[in-house]
Amino acid sequence: MLSPVLSHTARSITRRSLFSTSTNTEKFWSNLTASSANKVNPHVISSGQGAYLTISDRSYLNFCSSHYLGFSLEPRLKDAAKSAIDLYGLGIGYRTLAGTHSLHTTLESKIAEFKGTEGAVTFTSAYAANACAVQTIMGKEDIVVSDQLNHASIIDAVKTAGVQNKFAYLHSDMSDLEAKLKEASELQKIPKKNGEHPTILIITDGVFSMDGDLAKLPEIVSLAKKYDALTMVDDAHGEGVLGLGGRGVVNHFGLEGEVDIEIGSLSKAFSVMGGFIAAKQPLIDAYLMGARQRLFSIALTIPDTAALIEAVDMLAESEDLVKKLWSNVAYLNAGFTDLGFDIGNSETPIIPVMLGDEDLARKFSARLFEEGVFASAICYPMVPKGTARVRVITSASFSKEDCDVGLEAFKKVKEELM
Ligand SMILES: Cc1ncc(COP(=O)(O)O)c(C=O)c1O
Repeated sequence: MLSPVLSHTARSITRRSLFSTSTNTEKFWSNLTASSANKVNPHVISSGQGAYLTISDRSYLNFCSSHYLGFSLEPRLKDAAKSAIDLYGLGIGYRTLAGTHSLHTTLESKIAEFKGTEGAVTFTSAYAANACAVQTIMGKEDIVVSDQLNHASIIDAVKTAGVQNKFAYLHSDMSDLEAKLKEASELQKIPKKNGEHPTILIITDGVFSMDGDLAKLPEIVSLAKKYDALTMVDDAHGEGVLGLGGRGVVNHFGLEGEVDIEIGSLSKAFSVMGGFIAAKQPLIDAYLMGARQRLFSIALTIPDTAALIEAVDMLAESEDLVKKLWSNVAYLNAGFTDLGFDIGNSETPIIPVMLGDEDLARKFSARLFEEGVFASAICYPMVPKGTARVRVITSASFSKEDCDVGLEAFKKVKEELM
């Protein structure tokens, strides 16, 4: 027989199931099902990522992927990956257990040599590299000062590190950065629980991926020195693109040895996958020993690593591809300007064709697609309201005729919609 308390509970459960319409888990699933109605399916690509892509059996000019150097279809990278598969197979393990292959250490020393840093360490994405870079050296009581337009992976990295003292300065506004550093310096005077003073880390993207503008790195480095702060630059869109033969934004500004932490992506100009941290050896050692992203997550696979070694070798051998990329950038910039488009403050192969209105940007991109040109509309919340644009990403894989095909389509759609 039920006790009086249990029988009361049993009675209320029976009443709830009689009168309530759904349980929490039922609500959870019905909310998800309702939001699935707004799902936007991406285009499905059935070709490689060259100057053109195939979608539903039709060929489109590829104005929207970050394969800046055309390495995605480069025969030397493909051959390197195939040979490595024949020799070593595919998968690998955890770097700190039995997953460090000689291909990984070769890639890391080649990246360090190419960049002119004491060391480098690789990850399966730049997202993971950013997370490791911050989380391993910064704790709750340390201080981060970050550009307000930094990439989401940096924002997440700072959250993952649990840093409580966070300052966001207005985009590339050096007087606001200095004001935030003054506040940070005041906070730094208060010792942490362990008696040491907090570390201040300034973080910026090297190239801002929505506008294609560059961080004001020389000013940032000099403010860092003035306020005793470390510096970190996420150069996902600058590696393989900026500086001598694609050595990145730090090289572009002649600041070698002056930026503490450089992050690179291996999926954009390098066209494979992964990310790296390049820095002085004591910092690399701290990352090698402490990175949760290496301890608890898998390493780059054999073919990826072999292809990446070939990509770094090709860049170290010749500047030709990087020069071709920049000649295409100059050609397209002049072409869009001649057609009367506003291309914002772009200083890189990322060209934002500014349209302002969100509907116009979406319609423009959709009409370009009908004309055989794949270029994405970028709208709020990816960019502030009223600054919608169609973003064009330039590649060394374009011929001048390809650039003309794109410009002609923009001209036609502009005449129709504006
Ligand atoms: C500035 C920046 N940082 C980091 C990332 C993340 O790169 P990955 O795709 O290698 O994780 C991106 C990707 O778009 C990026 O634009």
